[in-house]
Amino acid sequence: MNWQERPRCDEAASWPLLKAHHAAHFAAGGFDLRTAFERDPGRAERLAFEAPFVLADLSKNRIDDAALHLLLRLARECGVEAHRDALFAGERVNPSEQRAATHVQWRAGGAAVTAATSVARDASRTRRLMLAFAEELRASSAFDDVVNLGVGGSDLGPRLVVQALRASGHARGGPRVHFVSNMDGHDLGELLPRLAPERTLFIIASKSFGTAETLRNAASARAWVEAAGRTAADHFVAVSANAPAAQAWGAGRCFGFDHGVGGRYSLWSPVGLVVALAIGQAGFESLLAGAHAMDEHFCQAPLARNLPVLLALLDLWHHEFAGHASRCVAPYHHGLRRLPAYLQQLEMESNGKRVDVQGRTIASRGVAVTWGEVGSNAQHAFFQMLHQGPEVVPVEFVLVQAGSHGLPGHHPQLLVSALAQARALMMGQAGDAPERHFPGNRPSTTLLLPHLSPASMGALLALYEQRTFVLGSLLGVNSFDQWGVELGKRHAGEIFAALQGGPADALDASTRKLIARLRDSG
Ligand code: F6P
Repeated sequence: MNWQERPRCDEAASWPLLKAHHAAHFAAGGFDLRTAFERDPGRAERLAFEAPFVLADLSKNRIDDAALHLLLRLARECGVEAHRDALFAGERVNPSEQRAATHVQWRAGGAAVTAATSVARDASRTRRLMLAFAEELRASSAFDDVVNLGVGGSDLGPRLVVQALRASGHARGGPRVHFVSNMDGHDLGELLPRLAPERTLFIIASKSFGTAETLRNAASARAWVEAAGRTAADHFVAVSANAPAAQAWGAGRCFGFDHGVGGRYSLWSPVGLVVALAIGQAGFESLLAGAHAMDEHFCQAPLARNLPVLLALLDLWHHEFAGHASRCVAPYHHGLRRLPAYLQQLEMESNGKRVDVQGRTIASRGVAVTWGEVGSNAQHAFFQMLHQGPEVVPVEFVLVQAGSHGLPGHHPQLLVSALAQARALMMGQAGDAPERHFPGNRPSTTLLLPHLSPASMGALLALYEQRTFVLGSLLGVNSFDQWGVELGKRHAGEIFAALQGGPADALDASTRKLIARLRDSG
């Protein structure tokens, strides 16, 4: 099938069959997980899937073999494999911006990329320079602290990886690494007093080099450096697809990358410089190798055992057919505490679209809301609702088999509490009073990593990226643009002018009133 002529999921022949199957066997509590496990001793085995570094247990989801069979047929009818091959071949899978999505080429040794493109060649040259720079800095005593100034994809992925690998003991040596993302000055303002300007290096991480948050923070950091009698060129490096703007700003050095790398997919490009500084060259290469191993799984595993495909199909099943409006992600590892935030951008910025690639309004419900919190904290926040609320929310538990902190007892207890929650959601309990009744039959997925290492983190994040790609492919949307974030930026300009005393007549009455109050108090 030509990937450009793929049908959307709701146009595929199996779509009405899936609707009918759900109505006949699942609607109105028609499928009970407890009974499914009783009747089928092979369920846990059959619905467990392996991919590099990840074991996925899908068996506690309200799904049967017939639904899975139809979903796989849907993926075939929607041309997911052809679309995937187009992504890896460097074809223009981002039609609204007329470009390829090249992030996979930044983590491929070559094998997963069918075309030896100029992007792949430039990527390997830039990576060499960037890693040499990181190693040099780690070995020198020039800087005690490095601050990554970036937001969205220029912050969330690198921050998550550094936190995860710091917690698991892989981020050792080199300068201390910090992250500032928010334009709220409380973020940067809290950090600066703890640093010495002459011993601090800033990375301005911005694909566009035009993002208000990052440029505001960079300007304040620069003023702070210059007030100490230092020059910006010695204390700022940039990672950007807009090298001329970075140079004009005065950054001493810029590591560039191509526009085909989407912001939320940019961890593998020089946006990962801060990660390389924290874990070193070998660690960064291992991160890329883990991601590449997952890409190979995605490219080669048959659809019925292809984890990104299966997870995306399950997402579609939950949202579109079962009507679950959101999915909760609960990582049970302190190092993964920012995973929900990372996934919110990845999944909702990629697939939160109401029109398809041809500009037609989609007929499906689109992407579900992703939310969550680290376990076991989450249990003492919103798990009450997951167990007894009227809305059913599928939960994704992310577990790491080995802990690395050396404190006896904690890790087994943590893992036990995750398994206990998943079991309680499924089993429920008859209560002697309505408020003590747990309905059970609530779905969950468990992803299990053997340990948190650069390679397993690379594989986990590539798994999530490719799952997002497959879901976007099924929905028929462009997962690689983000026009929805532009409008607010335009309004900000107009409102800023009004707040400074400019004309406000064109604004709505509510905004005018709030501006008046802010002016009074300002
Ligand atoms: O939120 C919109 C967005 O464009 C994201 O896609 C991106 O990750 C973020 O802003 C930061 O953009 P940049 O790296 O260009 O500063």
